Amino acid sequence: MLNYPSRLSLAHLPTPLTRLERFSVPSSDTEIWIKHDEITGTEVSGNKIRKMEFCLAEARDQGCNTVITCGGIQSNHCRATAVLGARLGIKVHLLLRGEKPGVPEGNLLMDYLAGAEITFIPTEKWYGHADYAAELQADYVKKGDKALFIPVGASDEIGLWGYIAACEELRSDFERLKLTPDYIVTATGSGGTQGGLIVGAQIYDLKTKVKAFNVSDDAKYFDQKIREDVSLWKQRYNVDFDDSGLEIDTIEGYLGSGYGVAGQAVFELIAELARNEGIFLDPVYTGKAFHGMVSELAKGHAGQLSGAKQVVFIHTGGLFGVFPQQEGFRFD
Ligand SMILES: Cc1ncc(COP(=O)(O)O)c(C=O)c1O
Repeated sequence: MLNYPSRLSLAHLPTPLTRLERFSVPSSDTEIWIKHDEITGTEVSGNKIRKMEFCLAEARDQGCNTVITCGGIQSNHCRATAVLGARLGIKVHLLLRGEKPGVPEGNLLMDYLAGAEITFIPTEKWYGHADYAAELQADYVKKGDKALFIPVGASDEIGLWGYIAACEELRSDFERLKLTPDYIVTATGSGGTQGGLIVGAQIYDLKTKVKAFNVSDDAKYFDQKIREDVSLWKQRYNVDFDDSGLEIDTIEGYLGSGYGVAGQAVFELIAELARNEGIFLDPVYTGKAFHGMVSELAKGHAGQLSGAKQVVFIHTGGLFGVFPQQEGFRFD
């Protein structure tokens, strides 16, 4: 039996798991199911809130009145943290990578509206952001406050619990819907969702493989990052978990020209899914992963999802990241 640490109830759970009705991949009869984590909340939508249920419980348990976290200017994680902080009466200080834009849009607009304090760190100095966060923590202590630092994407041994717990939910979904999916598919950006799913699938015996499409970095990075997080998680929570056979399967080839930059095929697919199913992906995370999944399914036996009868795509949210990239869409 798994001993969960403290957890706050913040997300609207369980999220629905539904089958795509009208969208299909040419020459593939694989059923595509969507786990709707884009509706874990409205302002706090997406995957990050599952992790934050554990991270913010940790902040509370440590007596922190402040959290410091970090990410890109359009970070969904930072936005979710800013909103949750406003809801819980916790001060949120965000370290965002890049220059302050003239007009705040999308997630950044929401960060400001939710009252987060924001420090912009130029990209070339980003390597030092964790040291800067440590200095900030010390400054908060001098002012009589206490701040917890949550790393990029809340992907650490605490945040890992979010998608471990999601696997318990998926197990009930699969039983209720009589599904035996061959693969669970997700976008991976900081590794915590992928890592949690891999660990959770093993613990809850989901009999399915986790395939992740990287939207930053590469397969080697995620392999190392997830092994480290799992090892720290085992130590911190004293969990008896066999991590000798972790299958960390990151499918490369769909990152395009870089993090946050999507090609035309991704924008077209986002529009197609919106038109046919009323489901909205984003160009930074879910659109790229969905594009990867569809492309691999279209390859049939030559693809990396070969032989799949059913796949479950984790819709990890990201809607607010669509708006700052509206110029990528073409309407004739
Ligand atoms: C919408 C969305 N999908 C997927 C991810 C990737 O999740 P993770 O950071 O846990 O790898 C993120 C965050 O990075 C995200 O904001």
